[in-house]
Amino acid sequence: MSLTVRDLSKSYPTRGGDMPVLRGVTLTLAAGESVAIMGPSGSGKSTLLHVLGTLDRPTTGRVELDGTDPFALPEAGLAGFRNASIGFVFQDHHLLPQCTVLENVLIPTLVGKPADDATRDRAGHLLDRVGLTGRLDHRPAELSGGERQRAAVARALIRQPKLVLADEPTGNLDRRNAQLVGELLLELHREQRTILVVVTHSLDLAKLFPRRLDMDDGKLDAAPAP
Ligand SMILES: Nc1ncnc2c1ncn2[C@@H]1O[C@H](COP(=O)(O)OP(=O)(O)O)[C@@H](O)[C@H]1O
Ligand SMILES: [Mg+2]
Repeated sequence: MSLTVRDLSKSYPTRGGDMPVLRGVTLTLAAGESVAIMGPSGSGKSTLLHVLGTLDRPTTGRVELDGTDPFALPEAGLAGFRNASIGFVFQDHHLLPQCTVLENVLIPTLVGKPADDATRDRAGHLLDRVGLTGRLDHRPAELSGGERQRAAVARALIRQPKLVLADEPTGNLDRRNAQLVGELLLELHREQRTILVVVTHSLDLAKLFPRRLDMDDGKLDAAPAP
């Protein structure tokens, strides 16, 4: 698995003309590699993650996952590809309030069928791994913020994605829980040899990554040493 992004640009149409948000982003990551992206608010970090996650199309440039351009797939194929290959963690946990922790983790596996025993075992194992043993039947409202975000990490990994994208995953957490969630993301990334791309404002989190990039006004550059 590899991720290649070549000369990516993205503009949004506005009344005053097209507004460029990404300007010539180039990035290559091999299986097992990770990167932290930092940068001021509005610099295009979330837009980049959306394009990498195939949720949004680039204006120009190319994204390749394992040599395949996902945007060349028909719409239904693209959704299936995204569901099977990419895991997302957002700043807000995005857990469904009416579902239990276990049900939330199983949601990405429920494409028109109930979860089989192997999938439920994997969900249980992942929830053990993120420290939620004994919380499987809780609803999100019955969890702490850190626990909710750890459930969201388990959900992102349930389909064994090749690429994991996290947009300010610790942004709503206190320092201790931010540390826990950040370390978990990296440990699971190493265990499962995913590609991990994390956007963060936290220097504490970014420092855990071997590679750091700065996003500034739609351009991505190597970050200065912290
Ligand atoms: N759907 C959209 N339509 C128009 N402008 C957008 C849209 N999404 C984001 N933008 C603009 O693109 C810029 C970058 O946004 P974003 O990628 O969310 O930045 P960041 O995540 O770094 O804070 C911002 O100026 C934002 O207002
Ligand atoms: Mg953002």
